[in-house]
Order: sequence, then structure tokens, then C-alpha cells
Amino acid sequence: MAAASSSSCLATHDSPRHKYNPSRNTNLYYSPLNLMNQNQPRLLYNTPRCSSINDNYIGIGSSLSKSERQFQPVCSLVNFQSSNRPRSPAMADPLTNGAGSSHLLRHVSSLAANPPSRLNAVVLGDALASEENDLVIPNPDFSAQAHVPSPAEYLDMYKRSVEDPAGFWSDIASQFYWKQKWDSPVYSENMDVSKGRINIEWFKGGITNICYNCLDANIAAGNGEKIAIYWEGNELGVDATLTYSQLLHKVCRLANYLKDIGVKKGDAVVIYLPMLMELPIAMLACARIGAVHSVVFAGFSSESLSQRIVDCKPKVVLTCNAVKRGPKVIHLKDIVDAALADSAKNDTVVDVCLTYANESALTKESTKWVEGRDVWWQDIISKYPNSCDVEWVDAEDPLFLLYTSGSTGKPKGVLHTTGGYMVYTATTFKYAFDYKPSDVYWCTADCGWITGHSYVTYGPMVNGATVVVFEGAPNYPDSGRCWDIVDKYKVSIFYTAPTLFVTRYSRKSLRVLGSVGEPINPSAWRWFFNVVGDSRCPISDTWWQTETGGFLITPLPGAWPQKPGSATFPFFGVQPVIVDEKGAELEGECSGYLCVKSSWPGAFRTLYGDHERYETTYFSAFPGYYFSGDGCRRDKDGYHWLTGRVDDVINVSGHRIGTAEVESALVSHPQCSEAAVVGVEHEVKGQGIYAFVTLVEGVPYSDDLRKSLIMTVRKQIGAFAAPDKIHWAPGLPKTRSGKIMRRILRKIASRQLNELGDTSTLAEPGVVDQLIALADS
Ligand code: WTA
Repeated sequence: MAAASSSSCLATHDSPRHKYNPSRNTNLYYSPLNLMNQNQPRLLYNTPRCSSINDNYIGIGSSLSKSERQFQPVCSLVNFQSSNRPRSPAMADPLTNGAGSSHLLRHVSSLAANPPSRLNAVVLGDALASEENDLVIPNPDFSAQAHVPSPAEYLDMYKRSVEDPAGFWSDIASQFYWKQKWDSPVYSENMDVSKGRINIEWFKGGITNICYNCLDANIAAGNGEKIAIYWEGNELGVDATLTYSQLLHKVCRLANYLKDIGVKKGDAVVIYLPMLMELPIAMLACARIGAVHSVVFAGFSSESLSQRIVDCKPKVVLTCNAVKRGPKVIHLKDIVDAALADSAKNDTVVDVCLTYANESALTKESTKWVEGRDVWWQDIISKYPNSCDVEWVDAEDPLFLLYTSGSTGKPKGVLHTTGGYMVYTATTFKYAFDYKPSDVYWCTADCGWITGHSYVTYGPMVNGATVVVFEGAPNYPDSGRCWDIVDKYKVSIFYTAPTLFVTRYSRKSLRVLGSVGEPINPSAWRWFFNVVGDSRCPISDTWWQTETGGFLITPLPGAWPQKPGSATFPFFGVQPVIVDEKGAELEGECSGYLCVKSSWPGAFRTLYGDHERYETTYFSAFPGYYFSGDGCRRDKDGYHWLTGRVDDVINVSGHRIGTAEVESALVSHPQCSEAAVVGVEHEVKGQGIYAFVTLVEGVPYSDDLRKSLIMTVRKQIGAFAAPDKIHWAPGLPKTRSGKIMRRILRKIASRQLNELGDTSTLAEPGVVDQLIALADS
């Protein structure tokens, strides 16, 4: 049975990726919270799934997935028979003081014999530890050097952060550069719709600039010659580096150019660039002059790009002529041309299209050109000086807009402001990755998504980190590319979405691993931990969203024992609450809707041009709280387990796609009369897109039509949103009031046909049998 559906109200998102067996729960597990205070024993289970169990025997093998079979468990398994289970909670902690004297703890000698980094399995007789009872204890050497070395330290800091947020955050913010300090109060908020307009402000009146904090401040601190960016091109052997001083020069030249063409503080700039160095350069240049960037992921179609251009009306679009991703050339400028033509029809004329000539993908001569509007980046930028005054802005002045999917077809323009976002992304980066100045950090996300904003550009660079920026695809020229890059740059912190890679290369430089974008299932977690990290590197499974600006729930490496698949505990200042459908806060072990009480500095402040939608989408469902749209389970030890979206949003390879967006693209096809889209489990992508399509009467099913429907979605949204499966539907299961019963569609899509539940309330129950009959046609 799936985690979320076992006891909760969240019947809609019972993700099979998150399996655990509640019947295997054991009460022999000791909470790390208790450990701190009471010297209780620690139990650890860190091994591939065990396939057969009886009192004395644990078999490992047949049910292991391929990735798990690649490594032999480093474990020695210690099996407790029922009579030998530890029962007393008042025992010494065998790891910290070696005083495990009780015969009940037969694993003590085994633990002592193994270095803690290779810590192993303690299996409790027939009650094999379930997922939630697995504890991976941090390597003491790692903890000793970590920013937060123990649960006690975390708790001290966390306690202060929620009891005295103003004091906690102003102490941290004081370490940044402010032209002028903020007024008191440090923050003000109203997160309760019943009390009026939703409003969040941090460090208001403080005058700063995030680009200054990223570049000038680090250079002033003596780090001008430190590498800011290692850029790795799509092709092997094509690379470049920029020091902090060189990066500043490039940013200033572009900033001067933007000013020269009339871009001023508060103006929007749309950036449609792949992962060239010019992408972070463009973001920083906008920030330097107080312009508001709106980065559009360069995988979006011209229609999506145009929609975003029309919404924020930029003076200029920054792009490049083309890019190679793997062996494929993508003509980005053609997409921009089409988008700008489209925008012009919607009263939005963009005067300038600054185009970087990426000649490894396409020559200048072969690039289509609109005279008078298009300008070659390299030709013009070099004419501008390499220093540029900073536009000092208020902490609450906007920094950027980033469109994200919601449950309607229209994307939401999430607006982040400057000061709180800066403090929050930099601080979460430092703690969640245990960042040290000697680290080389690589986040595989594209700057077109929030992860690339907060954790490729701003968070790391405010910390003066060395960041790897990779233009290409992880499987080109082969699937060892990621490890090639890790070894080449001696990457020590590697942050990615949970996608599986083939293992080879040394990866010895790795110190911390990070994961984001979707629930990481426990077996993938173990693979990441054991294979990628050689059982040496803690994993930061960071839960957060475009809206939250930075991590909200995340492990702090070295502080807490981890549980494979759990995002663990809240970051400083974050108060997650789990509520039931009536909005009542649930205590202790529970599952429900994940909300947050009180604001944190990195929270978004509004939806661009639509504050009402901001309030209704995020603050009305459960008055008094920010509602994330995610389901969550909290176990008896307080660990958080994300269970996926509870609204109509799908996470595909860490990209967030609204089912409504895909549906509206499908129904725009002349032969489609109705469509319903659901997410299904997908081995590689986390979730795949599964579309039920009803055709206009008389239109026959055909493979060509299937392809043409998929093409329509690719064209309107982008290739990453293409449905994995089109399921022909003579009709859709609807209630008598006409509401589509998505629950049933999800079950059909995942072929859980004996779990369809009660279908008698459907307007036409026969529809279900028709759908099943067509399932594999
Ligand atoms: C999902 C990406 C489980 C979640 C940063 C959230 C996660 C959505 C995790 C936001 C995680 C993100 N475990 N689920 N560690 N991190 N999610 O806005 O459903 O693109 O609501 O931001 O991704 O996606 P977004």
C-alpha cells in the first residue's frame, strides 16, 4: 500500500513510487530527537531491499532492481531474533560513547568494527525496519567539520529562528552588504486572508543590490581571482572559465548596454538563453541596474514564450542564435522570431533582440535576421566599459519574475523581491550543502527554472562559490558525461534531480549530494547514496518550490541521521504544518496537506499583475497558512515525507507542468473534442504525462493522429511537456454534475484496475469498461 493513501485524506496522489509497508513498522526505533537527550541506542538500516525474511535469515537478491544490483552491500547484516530485540530505551548510545554493554544490542560489536561511514544494517528479526525506520547516521568526521554538526546545534538554531525570527535573520543579514540598513521592524506579514490583504515584507527600507553582493563584495574580500564559473560546453573538450573579476567585467559591459538602450530600474527584460555563461551574466546584469528579469526556459515553444512576453512587456529580449543539446541543433532565434511576431499581434512590440552568436551551433551568416531590431551581442557589448555603477534598490524592490505552472492553463508570474530572497538563498545554500570556500559546486538545473536562479546563480555566488555551468545533456556523448564532469572539475557538491545514471569514473571529489524536484524513492536514494556517493556523502533532499525561493525542508548534512527518501526537517525559520481537508492542524504522526505558518525571507510576494490569484491560490484554501499544493506525511520521529502534488500539477523530470496546460493544448487540436491529463509513475522521469483524449465524432483513431496531437503539445508548450501516452477515450468518467473523476483515470493510467473504487456515482459507469478495453490499443 502506498504511503499517502494508508491513513490519509490524500486519496488523489497515492504515489506508488513511495512504497513502504506499514505492517513492517517497528516500535524498536529510537528517535534522533530522543537520542540527544537520553543516550538511547541508534539503529541503522542501510542496505538494499531485503527480499525474504524470517527470524534468522535475510535474503538479498532477487527483487533488487538493476541499479541496486550494481553494488554489493557494504553491510554486515545483524539480525535480531525477536527475543533479542532491544527493549529498554535507557541504553547508552553505542556510536557516540562505545558503551553498548547490553546483550540486547548485539550490533554494538559489529558497529564498532565498522567505520561509521560504512555503517551497516541492523535488522530487527521479522520486523524488518520499514522505510521510515531506516536511519543513516552521518559520518562523524563529516559532522565534526559541518556548519551544523549535531541535532542539538540544529535545534538551538531552529528554536531561535522561530521564536525570534527578527533577531535570527537580522544577525544573518548583517553579514551581507547593505548600502543602508533596513528599518525596523525586520519583517511584517499578513498571511491570513480573513485579516485583509496578504502581505509579506522583509528588511524593508534596507538598500542593497544582489549583483553587488555576488560580485563586487566577493572581489573586495580578495576573491577576484577565484573561479566563479567553470563552463562546460555540449561537446567534449569545449570549455571556459571566468574568475569573479572577469565575470564582473562581462556583467558590467552588458549592464551598460542595457542602460544605453533605455532599460531602467523596474523594467522587465526577457531572457531566453540556454546554459551559456551569458545566461547568469544576463541575470546579474539586470540585477545590477535594478531591471526585473524574466528568464524563460529555452525549451519552451514560441507560443509559451510569446505569452510570457505579452504578460510582462519587456523592452528587450536576450537570446542566442542556436544551441546544440547533445547531437541536436535547436534554432532558438527562430523560436524568438515567431514569438515576437506573435507578441506584436497582441500589442506588445519589443524593440531590441540582443542575440549571442553561438557559432559552434550555427554561423552568423545562416541566422535569420530582422534589421533594425536584432543586434549581435558580441559586436556591441565589447564597445561598452567594463565597470558600471550599481543601482541601489530597496530590499522589497522586485528582482525577478518566473512563470510557473498552476492548475489553470495560464502560467503564474511568481514575483521575488531582492533583500529577503538574497539572504534566504545564500543561507540555505550554505547550510543545506554545508558549503565551504574550497568546494566546487555543480547544480545540473537550467537557469530557466527556479533551481537555476536560486542555486546556480544567486545563492552560490553570494557565497563566492565556484560553480559549474553545463551547456549540454547528461547523456551526451554517453551516459558517463556527468561523472566525467565531476572528475574533471573535482566537483565536491553535486545537486541534481533524481534521475539515474550509469556509474563509472572515480567521483572521489564528491562530498555532498543534493536532490530536488520530486519525491526520491527510498531505493533511488540508496542507489544515490551507495553508488554515486560511495556511502560517504550525505544527501540533501531539498523540498521547495518556485514560490518559496529557497529550500523549506531539507537535511543539513552532518547534523541529522537521514532516512532514505525523507526530506527530513524544516530549515531555520520555517514552520511547516500538516493540515486535514478542513484546515485543522494535525499533530504528531500524520499525513495531509503541507502548509507553512508565518513567512520566511525568501517567500514570493505576489503573482505579477494578479495579487488576487496569489491570495486565492495560496492563502485561501487554509486561511492563516501558505498552502504548497503538496501532500506530506510526518512520521513518528518528525521526519517529513513528501508524497507529491495534491493539485493538478505534474512533476516531469523535475519540471512542473499543469495538467490544464497540456489539456488546453490538446483540445486546441481540431480533431480533439475533450482531454483529461493525469500523471503516472515513470521510471526515469519521476512522473510521465498520460492523456485521455476524446475525438470529434466520426474521426477514427490512428497513429498519425496520435503523433499530431503530441506535436500540438510540443508546439504550444515545449518538447518537455509532450504526453508519453495518448489513451483514446470514447468518453470520460464524469460525475452527474460533469466533473471528471480523475481518481479513476489515474487508476486506469497506472493499470491498477482492481482499485477503481466505487464507479456507481458516475453519470455513465459504462465509460470505465470502454476505457479499460482501449487501454493498450
Ligand atoms: C516538487 C522546484 C519531493 C513538489 C524546486 C513541489 C519535491 C514542486 C521536492 C515544485 C523534494 C520539489 N521532494 N517533491 N525534495 N522538491 N518537489 O516550482 O511537488 O519547479 O511542489 O520548484 O516540486 O516545483 P518547482
